[in-house]
Amino acid sequence: MMGLNATPKTGLVTERPAWKALEEHYQKIRNVHLRSLFADDAHRGERMAVEGADVYLDYSKNRITDATIRLLVNLAEECGLRQHIEAMFQGQKINTTENRAVLHIALRAPKSEQIPVNGVDAVSEVHGVLDRMAAFSDQVRDGHWLGYSGKRIRNVINIGIGGSDLGPVMAYEALKHYSKREMSFRFVSNVDGTDFEEATRDLNPEETLIIVSSKTFTTVETMTNAHTARAWLLKSLHRQEAVGKHFVAVSTNAEEVAKFGIDTANMFGFWDWVGGRYSMDSAIGLSTMIAIGPDNFRAMLAGFRSMDEHYRTSPLDKNLPVLMGLLSIWYNNFFGAQTVAVLPYAQYLKRFPAYLQQLAMESNGKHVTLAGAPVNYQTGPIYWGEPGTNGQHSFYQLIHQGTKLTPCDFIGFCRTLNPLGPHHDLLMANLFAQTEALAFGRTEDEVRAEGTPDWLVPHRVFEGNRPTNTILVERLTPESLGKLVALYEHNVFTQGAIWQIDSFDQWGVELGKVLAKRIIPELESVEEPLLQHDSSTNSLIRRYRRFKGEPSWK
Ligand code: F6P
Repeated sequence: MMGLNATPKTGLVTERPAWKALEEHYQKIRNVHLRSLFADDAHRGERMAVEGADVYLDYSKNRITDATIRLLVNLAEECGLRQHIEAMFQGQKINTTENRAVLHIALRAPKSEQIPVNGVDAVSEVHGVLDRMAAFSDQVRDGHWLGYSGKRIRNVINIGIGGSDLGPVMAYEALKHYSKREMSFRFVSNVDGTDFEEATRDLNPEETLIIVSSKTFTTVETMTNAHTARAWLLKSLHRQEAVGKHFVAVSTNAEEVAKFGIDTANMFGFWDWVGGRYSMDSAIGLSTMIAIGPDNFRAMLAGFRSMDEHYRTSPLDKNLPVLMGLLSIWYNNFFGAQTVAVLPYAQYLKRFPAYLQQLAMESNGKHVTLAGAPVNYQTGPIYWGEPGTNGQHSFYQLIHQGTKLTPCDFIGFCRTLNPLGPHHDLLMANLFAQTEALAFGRTEDEVRAEGTPDWLVPHRVFEGNRPTNTILVERLTPESLGKLVALYEHNVFTQGAIWQIDSFDQWGVELGKVLAKRIIPELESVEEPLLQHDSSTNSLIRRYRRFKGEPSWK
């Protein structure tokens, strides 16, 4: 782990009285079993649950007592969490390493609100772009925006990567029920040509709109795919003017958009105070808006907004994102858990864990504090997951009986969008059963009482005491999706504020990009290049050159 050399009196969170109190408390509670916590309090399940913005969080199946919550809230108070939240909402430059405000909350603020950034009201700018997006989306959806040869647009391809892809694809999958089914929506992110090829092989370019989504408009993967898309279009339409009817851009970089050949009249902007992984509700959501329509998009924004308000105004011990963030810290820093599993019992949320990976891990995968001091504690856990019930038949075994502690977030909906015989009750029965099994397990006595032979008993014992949160929402709607995403955004923020890190930069992705640029000519050159990497990289490059064959595009 990083930062072992950090000296005392560095002002790190581990020196705070509340942290020390939690360390002591952990020693008392580490072996307490959820079985006894529930046995001692018949109402624990109701008491340790909160509702905010119509999202219900049952956190009773965590390895905590009321004292744990009190101590965690003390920690949040000592760390100035409230002030951090206010600083974000007021547009202060809390992304210090990039000297930027962090204002994704402005993307869902009502028109009546004002948040000045460098003398300009961010909220009115946001609504200006939203109105343009709505007008354009309506034109595409109702067939008034035609392709160059006069054909109606039937396919939309979003080209982007990271935050310019994961949010849009997650939201499209999540809200497919509300989407315009006569249209198809595809997402191309990977620089592997297979992604583009497979996304377009059955599409007619004359009926296809390409949205090039990139905050910077310089990301190599996205620009490579965008150029390939332009060539694909021109192969059918032969005229440069066709690009204007089939390409739009979403970016903060008008200059690069114009250089690429997209009319900036067909560009939808956003701002440097929207981080890529916090941008699915900005113009980056253009494909979402075309899919579900402007009214549904605005309903999603209203959902985000209601969770924002809950986060900003609710007491810390009744605040969903705060409680979830603090519980993550409890397991990550005191129990030594390395990961968090996110398990949506909703097939529509199949890309939600992937989306959360960028949100959480790009935000909180940091090794120094805001002041640049190495941390002497663990920061961001690894987020991962799959929808239930599928995961039950692959990795749940390890969560139940393995040697690693894996805190889990279970997410379920009370009403299904696809009522089909017994399916939904079965799905939800599994969700409830899993949290029950994880918490209470099955004791040796119980296993014996079932007549299990002695030799098999140890294999059939479930230790239990595996912590879970259960998040229940009435139904998956654009609004509830907004609430869920905002819940995790603020959960991640809470964690970052306690760890004193910059949750809004991502310097860690730079080095790989720089090195790849250096290697590209070494792979492409006809002459044998002089390789000056380490011996491993050199020999991998040589082997690749030997076997790769002639490039198809030369
Ligand atoms: O490489 C990381 C990253 O900078 C992400 O933070 C971002 O979401 C992604 O690349 C895409 O960036 P852009 O939208 O500028 O193409």
